[in-house]
Amino acid sequence: MEDLNETTVTAAALAQMAATPDPRLREIMAAAVRHLHEFAREVSLKPEEWLYGIRFMTEVGKACTPFRQEFILLSDVLGLSRMVNILHDGRAETVGTETSLLGPFYREKSPLMKLGDQIAREVKGEEICLFGRVLDETGAPVAGAGVEVWQTDPDGAYDLQAHDPSTMDWRAQFRTDSAGNYWFRATMPFGYTIPMDGPVGRMIQAQKRHGCRPAHTHFLIGAVGYRELVTSLYYANDPYIDTDTVFGVSNSLIIDPQAGVPGSPFPELRSIKYDFTLARAVAGDENSRVGADPASLLAAE
Ligand code: BEZ
Ligand code: FE
Repeated sequence: MEDLNETTVTAAALAQMAATPDPRLREIMAAAVRHLHEFAREVSLKPEEWLYGIRFMTEVGKACTPFRQEFILLSDVLGLSRMVNILHDGRAETVGTETSLLGPFYREKSPLMKLGDQIAREVKGEEICLFGRVLDETGAPVAGAGVEVWQTDPDGAYDLQAHDPSTMDWRAQFRTDSAGNYWFRATMPFGYTIPMDGPVGRMIQAQKRHGCRPAHTHFLIGAVGYRELVTSLYYANDPYIDTDTVFGVSNSLIIDPQAGVPGSPFPELRSIKYDFTLARAVAGDENSRVGADPASLLAAE
């Protein structure tokens, strides 16, 4: 038997995993081992540093509850969620609206509302209107598309961060009408710092990052035959629009509510008109969510 050194230990680990029957699992795990070993060699990782990392990941796991997903947050602040989104977009066969992060505050089964409804239980701050159409790649309307929306209250907090997170607020789902139209009322969202009271927040502080996200409204739009679209619209003039902590902003997603927008169903409110384009579904690539409802990630398989 040959003794292992810092190079041959990588080959030995890869050899033991080489017979993994699932080809995708084999590919992913082999690449992970190669890159992890290369990372350890590059920084000449010390035992106490690796234990620190293990302690950190243990804390990240312990911070997860049905109302909080610290691992999604970690993936987001490392730019990995954005990377996976970009790779996913690159596999599309037709061009759709650019994607953005799902983030850790998405919840399944939000209230189904009627077009035009206000998504906040109680209006605080400025009421605004968002409207437009859901289209396919030819510009034809997609009728009956599901449009889920969620955002912060005017103080920059999601319902999941509220005192009683079991109550849903500032989130809803709608169905587009026969001409692909959606319209609803919300309140002006506010930029916020990502949750800073856990291990990820401590990491952000150690890195002297501001930890802020610019104000935005999240959308998850789906219809049979189309790729699910996970995106957000970002409000222009936010001080953090260029330095989002989780790298979610694209120029095509920046909006600016205005008074007197032609066609607004609520002309008395500042409004945003935004049309979304769905890309065609690609076989084997149905799930576009880099993230999930925190409760679903804790549920037993
Ligand atoms: C969000 O947009 O809700 C979000 C995304 C990533 C990290 C924290 C929050
Ligand atoms: Fe958000």
